[in-house]
Amino acid sequence: MAGDLLLRDKAPNVEANTTVGCIRFHDYLGDSWGILFSDPRDFTPLCTTELGRTAKLAPESAKRNVKMIALSIDSVEDHLAWSKDINAYNGEEPTEKLPFRIIGNKNRDPAIQLGMLDPAEKDKKGMPVTARVVFIFGPDKKLKLSILYPATTGRNFDEILRVIICLQLTAEKRVATPVDWKNGDSVMVLPTIPEEEAK
Ligand code: BEZ
Repeated sequence: MAGDLLLRDKAPNVEANTTVGCIRFHDYLGDSWGILFSDPRDFTPLCTTELGRTAKLAPESAKRNVKMIALSIDSVEDHLAWSKDINAYNGEEPTEKLPFRIIGNKNRDPAIQLGMLDPAEKDKKGMPVTARVVFIFGPDKKLKLSILYPATTGRNFDEILRVIICLQLTAEKRVATPVDWKNGDSVMVLPTIPEEEAK
């Protein structure tokens, strides 16, 4: 079920077929941060807007050493055909090439191993499809953040980028980011740090 992974759990080292060949998830991440997100179905309008937005975020995520990878319930062949629609939606040449991979799920194995299936959301054959899950993994392959959306709500990728910036900042420095924090705003010293040290 979606949400099986708990914060600080290590990502399962799934073997997956993707639009750019087979991967082992840990090798694929290497020493990068990773955003792994799932979509319920290829070719659907809302999912297409999300993957179009992901393609536009690619330069920003590369700058921050973040690899983005999508997972949708259909096959790699379907993903490649869908990629053309996603590029066309973005006003680009309708090619199969996107700046991120999409994991194929013909037998649902990767989605099950990653806990991304939504048992309440079924396809025409009555099989569960993937929920709209966002997992962010650190370079240690451990889960740093997870957000779960219903299929009918498109995600806010500005927020996903914002939390990546927060997570990277707090991984480097012993600070926390207050409510509605934006890049460049003041941060807070962790309450566990003694006052003398905080100064
Ligand atoms: C969509 O991508 O348009 C969509 C997918 C599943 C449920 C609702 C909308």
